[in-house]
Amino acid sequence: MLKVAIVGAGSRGIWCFGNLLSQRDDCEITAICDTNKFRGDVAAEKLNCKKVYTSITEMLKHETLDAAIITTPDAEHEKCAIELLEGGVNILLDKPLSPSLQGCKNIIAAMKKSGKIAMMGFNLRHTAVLKYLKKLIDDGALGRIILMENREFYEGGRTYMARWNGKKSSSGGLWIHKGSHDFDIFNWFLDFPKPKKVSAFAGMSYFTPQNFPFEIESGIAPGPCCADCHYGKNGSCPDRVIHEGKEWGKEAQALDGYVKDSCMYLSDLSCHDNGIAMVEYENGVRASHMECFVCGISDRRYSIVGTKAVATASLTDRQIVVVNRWTKEKITYDFPVEDGGHGGADPHLLASFVAALKGENVPKATLEQGLLSTAITEAAELSREEERTVFIEL
Ligand SMILES: NC(=O)c1ccc[n+]([C@@H]2O[C@H](COP(=O)([O-])OP(=O)(O)OC[C@H]3O[C@@H](n4cnc5c(N)ncnc54)[C@H](O)[C@@H]3O)[C@@H](O)[C@H]2O)c1
Repeated sequence: MLKVAIVGAGSRGIWCFGNLLSQRDDCEITAICDTNKFRGDVAAEKLNCKKVYTSITEMLKHETLDAAIITTPDAEHEKCAIELLEGGVNILLDKPLSPSLQGCKNIIAAMKKSGKIAMMGFNLRHTAVLKYLKKLIDDGALGRIILMENREFYEGGRTYMARWNGKKSSSGGLWIHKGSHDFDIFNWFLDFPKPKKVSAFAGMSYFTPQNFPFEIESGIAPGPCCADCHYGKNGSCPDRVIHEGKEWGKEAQALDGYVKDSCMYLSDLSCHDNGIAMVEYENGVRASHMECFVCGISDRRYSIVGTKAVATASLTDRQIVVVNRWTKEKITYDFPVEDGGHGGADPHLLASFVAALKGENVPKATLEQGLLSTAITEAAELSREEERTVFIEL
């Protein structure tokens, strides 16, 4: 039995990795570590784990672990990863590696010094559609890749404005927090060439106080959070966020002030609700990523242009269509629905990490690859802020 700790017992810690670990017969959840004691206790109860800690330091004093899975907010990744690696623990680190390039370098240095296994949680690489698209690219079915595009519509993403995800201090910004997935996929498709320059445009077009989707009654201000908002309670706000678990209730909030249902229309404007970011690689390939959180649908759609054929793909439709440039022959590949979070990707991600722990494979997504994704997305944040093209220095 591999002894695994979950560090950061929130949505991802409990509902993804906690549940998946509980279903495996080769892993046990040895300890839960969350800086919020209330949330840690709730997670331990849900996952039937007896040991709860509020710091990694305490946990390492008492436990001998084979691995830890880090699912804290992004800005905490660096210190958690370094402490665990220095404590001799293998880690799976949810994306992004760190919101800053320097943070990524510091984690990589700690990993090298420790000799431990460290893997990135880039679960998109485990979706059936993208695995097959990667195979088509590697097999040369599209020819030499010259241009790539990805459009993400994410209905759930609008709630980023309601919690830490949209705050630069916690996530580095949404290019980093969300776009890190998408630029990792571009990097992976191309076998990780060096990115040369990035330009990005992004802004908060809708989730601002000018756009409340209800009539404001005289003298009754909206917010500050959905649970306490007059317009949430009386049902007039269609964007009301409801978190039913007690881990997000007032008792947990009292310990650290973490509110997961802040009014989206009063959110931090350093965050964007839509944008476009482009990268050009040293090998001449160009790629653009559009993300939008003001929408009622969720899908990632890809266009990959090669010298022989163009592939288009949709994660929601679970389909790839390849059209040959000369013959116009069209081949359609359909993929069955899979169980498990993120279109079946999460169980495969965990299985890949466990196999690496057992020495059966090497980590699928390395920290160095995590750094490349942060390098691009950090540059996209800077490009947006300073309204210029940013040249990447690694
Ligand atoms: N791969 C994916 O598809 C995917 C999806 C969602 C989130 N994520 C990533 O997963 C991570 C967690 O996101 P979430 O939505 O579950 O967050 P969350 O807010 O639901 O939970 C985070 C938890 O971490 C705890 N925490 C904060 N600092 C800590 C520290 N120093 N040590 C221990 N615990 C700490 C908080 O108290 C909270 O309980 C983030 O890095 C996010 O980017 C990945």
